[in-house]
Amino acid sequence: MRQKVIIGNWKMNNDKKETEDLLLKLSKINCKKEIKVKVSPSYVNLESAVKILENSPIEVVAQNMHYEEQGAYTGEISYKMLKCINVNSVIIGHSERRMIFSENDDIIKRKINTALNNEMDVIICFGESLEDRNKKKHIEIISKQLDVIISDLKINQWKQIILAYEPIWAIGTGVNATPKQAQEIHKHVRAEIAIAFNKSLADSVPILYGGSLKPNNSEEIFSKPDIDGGLIGGASLSFEDFNSIIKSIDKK
Ligand code: PGA
Repeated sequence: MRQKVIIGNWKMNNDKKETEDLLLKLSKINCKKEIKVKVSPSYVNLESAVKILENSPIEVVAQNMHYEEQGAYTGEISYKMLKCINVNSVIIGHSERRMIFSENDDIIKRKINTALNNEMDVIICFGESLEDRNKKKHIEIISKQLDVIISDLKINQWKQIILAYEPIWAIGTGVNATPKQAQEIHKHVRAEIAIAFNKSLADSVPILYGGSLKPNNSEEIFSKPDIDGGLIGGASLSFEDFNSIIKSIDKK
């Protein structure tokens, strides 16, 4: 059975106190072993997040990192800095990074390589724009993005990888992809991995959905066979909503 995963991406939200309050509440929840829960606070709160979650199965994830190990890169954070505070997972390729911070395929690929080569787990995001979908080009666009992500990966690196399908038009808009739309993409992605590698590997990769996931739509979205969990923005800022989304994956 594939790992079920729920990740809260807090983006540039929550100051120190808000972060700690939310983490303290989360540290008390009982999540089943089959469900992996991760949270991604801002950089400045990562270290305290690791401490607060020390005795909890919830893992701390960075929202971004640079592809170089160190050097003259003002404002950037390296994998070494993350690993030395016990943050061993990172989100790469989020559409906000691609669009607002102009991260292109080359940058994303380099970041993925640096993370994988340094024993970090990677949550890799991809997804089409509304324009792509309206022009019925979404499958083509997803295939292109996926190709960049998976070309020259080694089979043994897949155990460090979680994929996240995040249609740009669904992020933060309150308009989620329908369960059918999301399932279509997840199935397509799994089929492409099976062609590029093999079916049993494709069947083992967790593929999450992200984009306006809320307590009132998560159960139905998670019920689809190729959807293994969610990457949650807005709703992960509320303990009640996030906890209820965690509970809904349990019904899968
Ligand atoms: P949202 O964000 O849940 O607020 O739509 C999802 C994401 O950006 O990962």
